[in-house]
Amino acid sequence: MASTAETGHTGFTLDKFAQHPFYHEVNKRLVALTQLAKGQRVVDLGAGTGAVTRLIVQEVANHEAEVIAVEPSETALEVAKRNLEEFRGALVRFIQGGAEMLTQLVKKPVDAIFFCNAIHLVEEKDQVLHEILQTLREDGTFSFNTSFYLGAEPPEAELFYRRWMMKALRVLKKEYGLSPDKTRAEARHRLTEDEYVALLNSNGFKVRDKEVVRVQVPLSGFEAISEYSLWIEGVLPGVPLEAGAYALAKGARLAFEELGITESPRNWLLVVASRA
Ligand SMILES: C[S@@+](CC[C@H](N)C(=O)[O-])C[C@H]1O[C@@H](n2cnc3c(N)ncnc32)[C@H](O)[C@@H]1O
Repeated sequence: MASTAETGHTGFTLDKFAQHPFYHEVNKRLVALTQLAKGQRVVDLGAGTGAVTRLIVQEVANHEAEVIAVEPSETALEVAKRNLEEFRGALVRFIQGGAEMLTQLVKKPVDAIFFCNAIHLVEEKDQVLHEILQTLREDGTFSFNTSFYLGAEPPEAELFYRRWMMKALRVLKKEYGLSPDKTRAEARHRLTEDEYVALLNSNGFKVRDKEVVRVQVPLSGFEAISEYSLWIEGVLPGVPLEAGAYALAKGARLAFEELGITESPRNWLLVVASRA
């Protein structure tokens, strides 16, 4: 059985995955698509440790601008404060809280709201979209991106994903004597691109720009995503995270080896919406 040292994971977060250049690329592209202007007031919802907040600051910074980083996790917010220390107080404000209570956290309407790599984590999407709409100025924009939607794995990557899961299941069985609990549904239901559009439309938004960006993910990206708790719970329901992370990472290595590939594609959905 593999030890923690062998798995070498970092607390089942997305952090390692987020360090890959393709992640920076999809966030930068969403900020560019939104077409921010100097002096705007912007909310970065689910700001995490502030990577996207920094990209937003670069677009709007002047003496009038304000960027409000909203994040429920105290730990992430502390890291964000350190990462953005040079802007703290003057340009960037930090607020602890979830998207579900945005109107209570940000009272004055803002020009733009971002929700990057997080919307799939929200159970109450209607409620959150309502909060966002209330917090936006009349001509404001709401931008989000996600790679946890139905369609994130393109057809060309199907062979790899199938092989990956097969290998991971074998490793799990052989080295841990475990199998996923088939009776448990995926922890979170993933929406399709069309369902996201319908969700926006039914909550008072219209899509202004929408792109699917294909990124090439190297083996290290799949090893990193193997350590993400939501991914493990989704594909290997009921399996302890430690064992799941190990089996998925090893499965990815074996699948890459067998298929003789050095990368595999993954889609990111990018959406900029405005009031309908
Ligand atoms: C994968 S991180 C993304 C961080 C950053 N936006 C980025 O793109 O790199 C997801 C973040 O969403 C936050 N989050 C989870 N549920 C949330 C909610 N209901 N409202 C706001 N943020 C939430 C998490 O705490 C986490 O920091």
